[in-house]
Amino acid sequence: MSSPGPSADEAALKELIADELGAVRDRSFGLTTDVLAEDDLTAQVSPLMSPLVWDLAHIGNYEELWLLRAAAGREAMRPEIDDLYDAFEHPRAERPTLPLLKPGEARSYIGTVRSKVLDALPSVRFDTPDPLTSGGFVYGMVVQHEHMHDETMLATHQLRRGAPALLDPQAEPLQVPGEASGAEEVLIEAGPFQMGTSDDPWAYDNERPVHIVDLPAFYIDVEPVTNAAYIAFMEAGGYDDARWWDPAGWEWRNSSGKRAPAFWEREGGQWARRRFGRSEPVPPGEPVQHVCWYEADAYARWAGKRLPTEAEWEKAARWDPAAERSRRYPWGDVYEEGRANLGQRALRPSETGSYAAGASAYGVRRLLGDVWEWTSSDFHGYPGFRSFPYREYSEVFFGPDYKVLRGGSWATHPLAVRGSFRNWDYPVRRQIFSGFRCARSTAEPATAPAKGEAR
Ligand code: AVJ
Ligand code: FE
Repeated sequence: MSSPGPSADEAALKELIADELGAVRDRSFGLTTDVLAEDDLTAQVSPLMSPLVWDLAHIGNYEELWLLRAAAGREAMRPEIDDLYDAFEHPRAERPTLPLLKPGEARSYIGTVRSKVLDALPSVRFDTPDPLTSGGFVYGMVVQHEHMHDETMLATHQLRRGAPALLDPQAEPLQVPGEASGAEEVLIEAGPFQMGTSDDPWAYDNERPVHIVDLPAFYIDVEPVTNAAYIAFMEAGGYDDARWWDPAGWEWRNSSGKRAPAFWEREGGQWARRRFGRSEPVPPGEPVQHVCWYEADAYARWAGKRLPTEAEWEKAARWDPAAERSRRYPWGDVYEEGRANLGQRALRPSETGSYAAGASAYGVRRLLGDVWEWTSSDFHGYPGFRSFPYREYSEVFFGPDYKVLRGGSWATHPLAVRGSFRNWDYPVRRQIFSGFRCARSTAEPATAPAKGEAR
């Protein structure tokens, strides 16, 4: 072909990128403007979180670093602020003491970065051997990064005290009717499957490369564990029986004094919860949310089950045994609305029985969206892992300190999750939108022998 310039595909991809950059910025502004006073943006609601204004400027600084300097060869706009927004220079607890950009300055800085990015976009080559820009990879990375910080900002909003700041489009429990599953758990037969990906264009380094994992047969729950089921564990004295707890979990239980999920409070003999500044009865049919790994692990043991390993979760979510290949999503390779509760449509997970159309090949439901699901696995690189484009995205977190979570939550944007996506956090963390489902090995009895004698 003689015509210079980008191919039609490349032009279409750049248009999509520009649209998605615009959409995620609308989302970020929705979480940081209008309803919030200047103080709400600069205050720190918890030592676990950054002030919202830090996330906002960090989003733009990251975009400047990757899309202007790395991808388009531009000079640093404000080299003196780089250090303030480098997540590794300053732990979250320390960030409010830094000379951060004020909310107005932060908005104008990230707006300037964005207009330069859009100006440079047409001249950045996607058909290049440079893996950073090839196929637009680095743009996907930056769009996903902003969505991830939007989810982080939602966790900050949830921790914030005071009058509600966010509109609640779904005050009633979210039910998306479909066919009942009928089964509590399904059998995943023994055998190999393809874990991870080598050809997903927007996948992170930690999802790569694709590799074969051979698993023994196991059972996995069709749905995540509900609030009602979790209350049964609490009422059976689950928090008071060391038999169910990992030794480090029992220590956490003793030192933290926690006896219920985060944001729960006892009201007139019933459980209520605070959700984005409003109090409401705990909905029995929603997945339990805001539990840490230790709580999930203890519940599973009490129920005579265990958490799935990360590989088990992914096989149940992605493997299509008839086609002998892994899918991008539980239902297929293409994202479709109405198959998962993703993208902050509601500020809450959906109820058991919802999103039947999102089931995996094995009939496992609500794997994507609703709540992040704790797995039993530590966060490690896959065989053949290569850090790209920077060690600080994943590699520096590999090791026994972090547990893997899968599937995204109601707060995760569809562009920032897929069946191979991996999240990780400390086993004590509960401010994230975390829940879990149970699994068990086929050799174990179906009903917990100890369940009845829990006290
Ligand atoms: C993948 C969610 C664990 O928030 O620490 C944001 C994502 N990396 N900025 C995090 C991330 C750099 C990361 N998690
Ligand atoms: Fe970041």
